[in-house]
Amino acid sequence: MPAFRTATQLLDFEPTSSEFLEEVITGLGRAPKSLPCKFFYDERGSHLFEQICELEEYYPTRTELGIMRRYAGEMAEQIGPGVMLVEYGSGSSTKTTLLLDRLEGPVAYVPVDISGEHLHQTAESLARRYPEIEILPVCADFTGEFELPVSRRTPTHKAVYFPGSTIGNLTPDLAERMLRRIVEKCGCGGGLLIGVDLQKDIATIEAAYNDARGVTAEFNLNLLHRINEELGGNIDVDRFEHRAKYNRELHRVEIDLVSLCEQTVEVGDASFDFSAGEKICTEHSHKYTIDGFADLAARAGLELHRAWTDERDYFAVLHFAVAEAEQ
Ligand code: AVI
Repeated sequence: MPAFRTATQLLDFEPTSSEFLEEVITGLGRAPKSLPCKFFYDERGSHLFEQICELEEYYPTRTELGIMRRYAGEMAEQIGPGVMLVEYGSGSSTKTTLLLDRLEGPVAYVPVDISGEHLHQTAESLARRYPEIEILPVCADFTGEFELPVSRRTPTHKAVYFPGSTIGNLTPDLAERMLRRIVEKCGCGGGLLIGVDLQKDIATIEAAYNDARGVTAEFNLNLLHRINEELGGNIDVDRFEHRAKYNRELHRVEIDLVSLCEQTVEVGDASFDFSAGEKICTEHSHKYTIDGFADLAARAGLELHRAWTDERDYFAVLHFAVAEAEQ
């Protein structure tokens, strides 16, 4: 019997195309216009994101992986034995295996991902590699509501692993709310191991989102291709361009699609007017200090226990425990 649930058995909360349509119509109807970054990740978008992670300019993935390679043993010790490890996003199998290889007697591994296809592949390969760990994939948008599965063996505690600084793509308010939900899910004895991209010189950050090969631009523009292909939109993608700029006051990269001319686009029954230079905000990527992030997490009921960084202090992997008052 396989140690992971099959595709039909996995907990599935994947968004439907009618949700996509609804969110696109709402987002383009707003002033200023916006589109949720979670829709970047269709098959082509996920493939482009993998290419971004390999780019010379995109330092976060490489830096986080370096930290994991060096300190995964300490992190596993910090997490403790007999855990149910819940990973938000399942795209980071190299980092995951670094951790799973070192954890003492983990009971279950629960990857949570919005892409069912990707999730199933990850689950299958991890089930083969770790036959003694129960693999329980959940197809869901981890920024929203979902239920954790129940493992056959009872874990001593639950810990969430949230790599990649994806938390930076939420506003600080939403990030705090999400951490609060992690506290509720993990409860007594629970923990969180999270990757956070740190504040640093602006040129380094901006270069990471404006790569010379234009892969990030393709990734951003792919959202418009998706609207055309999946929702029957008539957007002329060549009439938009990618822009990524760092906002010093709000400590975030603001990623937009900018209309190159005055134009009207149609999606379903709705039409949207653009002036030349008008932008659609597609993503924010917040950069934190360790103290700033620890304060935000403390408001959600988490206590910082350990921090690991690289020698340039570009990125941090932080371990939090659910604060005693929350237990
Ligand atoms: C997934 N996330 C952490 C990436 C980031 O750096 O904010 C998404 C990304 N967008 C453009 N490049 C990478």
